[in-house]
Amino acid sequence: MSALLDTGRTHSCNDLRIDHAGERVVLFGWVNFRRDLGGRIFIDLRDREGMTQVVFGPDVDAGTHEAAKVLRSEYCIGVAGKVVARVENEGEANPNLASGEIEVEVDTLEIFSRSETPPFDISKDDRLDTNENLRLQYRYLDLRRPSFQRNFVLRSKVGTLTRTHLSELGFLELETPYMVKYTPGGARNFLVPSRLNPGTFYALAESPQIFKQLFMVSGLDKYFQITRCFRDEDLRNDRQPEFTQIDVELSFATPERVFSPMESLMVRLWSELLGTEIPTPFPRLTWAEAMARYGSDKPDTRFGLEFADLGALTRDCGFAVFEGADYVKGICMPAEHAAGFGRAKIDKLTEFAKKRESGGAKGLAWSRVEDDLGWKGGTAKFIAPELQKQISEEMGATPGCLLLFVADDFETTHAVLNAIRLRLRDELGLVDPAAKQWNFLWVTDFPLFEKSHDGRWVSSHHPFTSPRDEHVEHLISDPAKVLAKAYDLVLNGNEVGGGSIRIHRSDVQAKVFEALGMSDEEKRAKFGFLLDAFKYGPPPHGGIALGLDRLAMLMSGAESLRDVIAFPKTQRGQDLMTNCPTPADDAQLAELYIRHRPLPGAED
Ligand code: AMO
Ligand code: AMP
Repeated sequence: MSALLDTGRTHSCNDLRIDHAGERVVLFGWVNFRRDLGGRIFIDLRDREGMTQVVFGPDVDAGTHEAAKVLRSEYCIGVAGKVVARVENEGEANPNLASGEIEVEVDTLEIFSRSETPPFDISKDDRLDTNENLRLQYRYLDLRRPSFQRNFVLRSKVGTLTRTHLSELGFLELETPYMVKYTPGGARNFLVPSRLNPGTFYALAESPQIFKQLFMVSGLDKYFQITRCFRDEDLRNDRQPEFTQIDVELSFATPERVFSPMESLMVRLWSELLGTEIPTPFPRLTWAEAMARYGSDKPDTRFGLEFADLGALTRDCGFAVFEGADYVKGICMPAEHAAGFGRAKIDKLTEFAKKRESGGAKGLAWSRVEDDLGWKGGTAKFIAPELQKQISEEMGATPGCLLLFVADDFETTHAVLNAIRLRLRDELGLVDPAAKQWNFLWVTDFPLFEKSHDGRWVSSHHPFTSPRDEHVEHLISDPAKVLAKAYDLVLNGNEVGGGSIRIHRSDVQAKVFEALGMSDEEKRAKFGFLLDAFKYGPPPHGGIALGLDRLAMLMSGAESLRDVIAFPKTQRGQDLMTNCPTPADDAQLAELYIRHRPLPGAED
């Protein structure tokens, strides 16, 4: 029997303040850290909410003090005792701890369970340099770290507040299936074999897209769902194979009617959870403008280094590198940073620009701006002095600036300068993390189609995205020209959401399918049920999905989605704690009528 457990805790480890001095309290938690000083034992007791110092001393209770001598890190214990001001105990308040002005003098101790020495020191938390794989293997211990506990408390509140907010705005929370029909295209699906239907497979839903549109056809207007999505993609810090969307769809939608509840949701999350007021309406940029100025459809607008378009000025400049390119664009590094950016750094940046991951530039042209706005060094020798001054002016350069140029096709020029811009952000420290800047941005008017590797037109988002009305006539004749009623929500250079107004007219849908080169058979096979549904009075509709994990990551200041997903997968899609995925045994496979093929490199 446990007396303390029966009593229950009176406070969390983050509740007690100086006002509680004199009260008798019961706390439960884990031994974060222990110190023996002057005959007393001090323990930082930790629970999900925070930490409280508890003290064992012969003067407080000799038996309890004796019992406390066995306590070690990560023992799970309960304590009862009196709250005292630390100064009264000849101690000092700890300003780094919310409960730092008090401690609890323990007269009753109960050890609920002992702990082996953990594989890493949880009390080190942010200073922990343990390799991530070991932490993932012992994920339940990793999650005990105070910084992680804060992340998950925050994440939980994001979910709760989102439900409250959207419900208050009249959205219905509805569920859609995870096991769905496989439709090729879009993200790669995970397949699930059907035992009851041998030889057939479900796909795990990459998003509720089609089902939420069907809700609109059903008249279940204003839907939302906080739902898991599954995508068999190559993984990065901002991508997990299963992730969570705040998914939204509404009938009689315009982009404004989608933006407004999303903006008010962001305002509320930031205000109530971070205590920060976010101004609305969020700024907007068209995709074309975002690409032209930042070379990215998710620009980080917290700092400058915007691109200058120099195509017109360099058309007949005599420098073959510039003259022969579709695009010549440049970035001007202000003098205050350029002064310390010597030749070695420029050479390094050039190597970076040439890397495939950076977009694969053929080179990086550069020059320094002189007092008369003429240039010195690098490309100066190829460009006439008068033109140098004109380009300097066009780029808003002042003496001492460093100019960087890329000349190439549209994609390479923009990709490379974007990579350079983001690298310089980090290298020159252009964004101060302590400033907690939150630059929300809507990027609108994406192209409806993009060219696939094999030269065919494919949907940039999905084939139900509506073209702008005035572009419908170009669908067949000039697909490249067609812009979509599609939008992304961007935060500090991260895509945190995306959506569109959908097509609800069958004639427009038919033209989009035609532009995509889809045969009637293909259309029926993939989307027959949706096209059928659209025969019965579909309302105009549209929606959006926000990446909840990405929001939680940015709000908590984490650098990886793995820090806000409790049980994440590694870059290789593995769960190191449960050791998954694993091979299936022959009996399981036989039941599913599935036979092994030899693994790549293995003998048959
Ligand atoms: P989309 O594919 O743009 O849109 O996804 C919406 C948002 O989900 C987040 N996200 C991810 N987060 C973590 N890991 C991933 N692998 C991952 N993939 C996407 C991003 C992204 O902005 N059905 C459409 C939405 C709509 O049109 O309404 C959709 O899924 O933050
Ligand atoms: P080259 O004529 O190849 O010797 O290049 C002269 C300068 O222009 C060097 O500094 C190259 O790095 C740079 N350069 C070459 N190709 C490009 C390009 N496509 N865009 C920008 N700079 C380039």
